[in-house]
Amino acid sequence: MKKLIAANWKMNKTADEAVSFMKEFQNLVRDGKNADIAICPPFTALSAVSAELKKSNIKLGAQNMHFENAGAFTGEISPLMLKEMGCHYVILGHSDRREMGENDSLINKKVISALKHGLTPILCIGETHEQRVKDETQDVLENQLIKCLQNVGEIKKVVIAYEPIWAISKGNPNQKAATKDDAEDAHLFIRKLLEGMYDEKSAKETRIIYGGSMKPENAKELLSMRNIDGGLVGNASLDAKSFAEIVKSAK
Ligand code: PGA
Repeated sequence: MKKLIAANWKMNKTADEAVSFMKEFQNLVRDGKNADIAICPPFTALSAVSAELKKSNIKLGAQNMHFENAGAFTGEISPLMLKEMGCHYVILGHSDRREMGENDSLINKKVISALKHGLTPILCIGETHEQRVKDETQDVLENQLIKCLQNVGEIKKVVIAYEPIWAISKGNPNQKAATKDDAEDAHLFIRKLLEGMYDEKSAKETRIIYGGSMKPENAKELLSMRNIDGGLVGNASLDAKSFAEIVKSAK
């Protein structure tokens, strides 16, 4: 399966900055056919990036959404609005949002709603440093997956992003990623869980991507692992050259 390399810009880049990035990035990757590429800018830059992507294979994604179509939800954005902007993906359950109070049952509603509207959820799961030290990683991942995927029938239409919280850069370029072996172990474990929850074929065809300090220096080795089907890239996706390098290392 083709790798998916997705940029999660978080709360970075104005619409103008996003357009400059897209021009530079598209020049660097050309057709970018060796990988599927997604750009997830802040809501305010979706429209500008969408316009830049008109003749491109690169897909647009959002970083969050509400599960309802419309209503009295001040400050929220609905799946219909994301569709209108041309979004293909939506990141759901990112640890930044979980820290602000999102729980698995809310994330589950969002996953179901995204699928209903033909959006591909990039569902983030992952353990904290404390949980890893206490040897709770597998329990945490299992619990998150079961709860977030309740009543989700077509697992192949979901991208799972394994993001160990302790490896996320939070903007620090020197933060260490998970080792390729630790990441691979977690991905294999997730794949086995999906096999049990669904079936072997579906589990095999579901993309499980890695996030947490992926950068040009480590992307190649992480992406060479059997069960790592791509990357969700934060800090290193803010620079067109470094993101293009990561994309090129995905064969
Ligand atoms: P990072 O962020 O690449 O800056 O660690 C990844 C993410 O949080 O999605």
